[in-house]
Amino acid sequence: MPGPEIRIRQGERLRLEVENGLAEETTVHWHGLRVPNEMDGVPHLTQAPITPGSRFIYEFDAIDAGTFWYHPHQRSFEQVGRGLYGALIIEEANPPRVDREMVWVLDDWRLTGEASIADDFGGFHDMSHAGRLGNTVTINGRVPDIVPVRTGERIRLRLINAANARIFALDFGDLAPQIIALDGQPVTPHAAPGGRVVLGPAMRADLVLDVTAAPDAKIRVTDRFFAQDAYALVDLAVAATPLRDAPPDWPMELAPNPLPEPDLTRAQRHEVTFTGGMMGGMVERQMGLAGDGGGMGGMMGGGMMNRLHDGGIWFINGVAAEGHILDPMLTLKRDASHVVAMTNATAFHHPIHLHGHSFRVLSRDGAPTVHREWQDTVLMAPRERVEIAFVADNPGDWMFHCHILEHQAAGMMGVIRVA
Ligand code: C2O
Ligand code: CU
Repeated sequence: MPGPEIRIRQGERLRLEVENGLAEETTVHWHGLRVPNEMDGVPHLTQAPITPGSRFIYEFDAIDAGTFWYHPHQRSFEQVGRGLYGALIIEEANPPRVDREMVWVLDDWRLTGEASIADDFGGFHDMSHAGRLGNTVTINGRVPDIVPVRTGERIRLRLINAANARIFALDFGDLAPQIIALDGQPVTPHAAPGGRVVLGPAMRADLVLDVTAAPDAKIRVTDRFFAQDAYALVDLAVAATPLRDAPPDWPMELAPNPLPEPDLTRAQRHEVTFTGGMMGGMVERQMGLAGDGGGMGGMMGGGMMNRLHDGGIWFINGVAAEGHILDPMLTLKRDASHVVAMTNATAFHHPIHLHGHSFRVLSRDGAPTVHREWQDTVLMAPRERVEIAFVADNPGDWMFHCHILEHQAAGMMGVIRVA
């Protein structure tokens, strides 16, 4: 792991034959790609699971350029957690000029003292708290160490967070990277605030990194608390001979992908509330939501155990998904614009992912976002309200779920129908 990098040009057609060599069923989801519904790789919703020893052919056009990834969508908390995933890069027709490109697939492993993967997937504590957090960080399957660079070099760095639950923060120190794309979608190039890039599970960022004369540059891979002790340290070993004296002034802006612009004046509005998890009842009461959503829960009065017996820990609009959910939680009028206002009434962060579409992130807690970025996965802080907008132009039944894979498995998923 990671699995082979798949790389094609925008506008090309991709045909992939997947053979299931596992002893259990699986599917493959092309995270962030706007594919036809029957190619989306969701078991029991868009296709029958691929049984052990059998094959499935996925075939679709690459509409959008950008940094994407692929992973199973069956028992994903264990299949992805054990390393089944890879980068999926769709190259622009005219990519911005750089000296070098690097793809970093980040993961976070829970290893035993014998350096094997701890065999405790799906435990109650992970499900009800922050997900399965590990103790060992890898980049492209290796514990990171030294990356040789040259002064004056321009690097395009594609970051992919493939962890089940770890919210990574990369601290680039004085390197001052420019963010040029988020979740594969171009954004106006802008400096990463404080030299830091935060990525929830499944999220991606494309950066332009100009290596200036920083003799002992280090990139600290840590978590969203910016813990002083980094989980991993990437050492940029600067070669003695510079490539050029100053960073190049080549343009770095990416051409936009063909995404339909939502019409906010005519958009239909929808409310989505996330509840549940440990201490959830407390937050719900503070937000005036008690009795709503998942109802009174959390650690108060044994509510959590009652919920568990009802089968769910996390709720979307009061429903914890179980097994093979098929009934849509929302039906969106096809080709119309929609605003979905989401409230995180839990005590935890959640990276919320919608299949089949990219959406603009309009506002956070009522304040408009600076870049109105397109995302397919948006990280929500506890108690935060986020508004997203998109044109529902891709017909079918689409998954909508938290990408902390333990939360997804414990109820935090639903189906959005576009018809
Ligand atoms: Cu990356 Cu529904 O998943
Ligand atoms: Cu979550």
